[in-house]
Amino acid sequence: VMKPVVILGVFVADTAYRADRQPRLGETILGNSFKLGPGGKGSNQAVAAGKLGADITFLTRLGVDAFADMAKQTWTSAGVKSAVIDTPDSYTGAAYIFVEEGSGNNAIIVSSGAAMLISPADIEAHADLISSAGVFVTQLEQPIEAALKALKIAREAGVTTILNPAPAAALPDGIYALCDYVTPNESEAEGLTGITVSSVDDARRAADALLAKGVGAVIVTLGGKGALLHTRDRSDHVGAVNAGAVVETTGAGDAFNGGLAAALAKGVEPLEAVRFACAVAGISVTRPGTAPSMPTLQEVEALLAKG
Ligand code: RIB
Ligand code: NA
Repeated sequence: VMKPVVILGVFVADTAYRADRQPRLGETILGNSFKLGPGGKGSNQAVAAGKLGADITFLTRLGVDAFADMAKQTWTSAGVKSAVIDTPDSYTGAAYIFVEEGSGNNAIIVSSGAAMLISPADIEAHADLISSAGVFVTQLEQPIEAALKALKIAREAGVTTILNPAPAAALPDGIYALCDYVTPNESEAEGLTGITVSSVDDARRAADALLAKGVGAVIVTLGGKGALLHTRDRSDHVGAVNAGAVVETTGAGDAFNGGLAAALAKGVEPLEAVRFACAVAGISVTRPGTAPSMPTLQEVEALLAKG
């Protein structure tokens, strides 16, 4: 049986600039290209889950403007239901994304706009939605108090909880015990634990530190090295799934988290779900953009069938 997924998070418009390097302060340089598209970590994760066939509802605040229209169109075409609190006195946010020509690596500034106004009271008003989920996911682009409140409601209702601690931020100690899964990338794992993470063994040490804080299971995403699933009982390294040449890595973490949520909602075992999520991320990096690069279930299954 497929259980519903609820994701709390942020939509922003991604403004992606490809250039050979970043400008220094006071400098203007010519870029090679520009692209506007849908983004925001939570929304990207919802789009990934939606395209994979999950029953998914995305909870957020939006301004009442052109980027809000972009959000709604994006969700409709990905099969994502939404619970939106309209916020006319703010604006729908945007992200500046620098994509390095050649490597596809990125540097990002995200201004979450209306979503920064998501409050614990907003979450309380959607307690029934959260409690009725099978899997609940959130990140850190909206206020942490909202994430904390939602994780509490989900946990009390026995919902499987996933915290994607991105972008890196200091977390209140109480949050960890509310999480069945925490899914940092290497630098976020380092930020949360103070342990430098540049190898699978480092990731194991950082994951141990997070388990000690009360998390159920830790999944460290390792970019081109795949992911580590680390619990009190076992530790499994899953290799990256190669789907072709890397074009843009922005949103790969979101592809992973959306894929993970979709698989867990179907009752897939955690290790298999991590493998599936690696395949979703592996396809996303072969395409430009974030939300627009999320694969369909058919594409992921075809890639996994190749072995
Ligand atoms: O994880 C990638 C996302 O982070 C981008 O879509 C950008 O909007 C930033 O929020
Ligand atoms: Na991509």
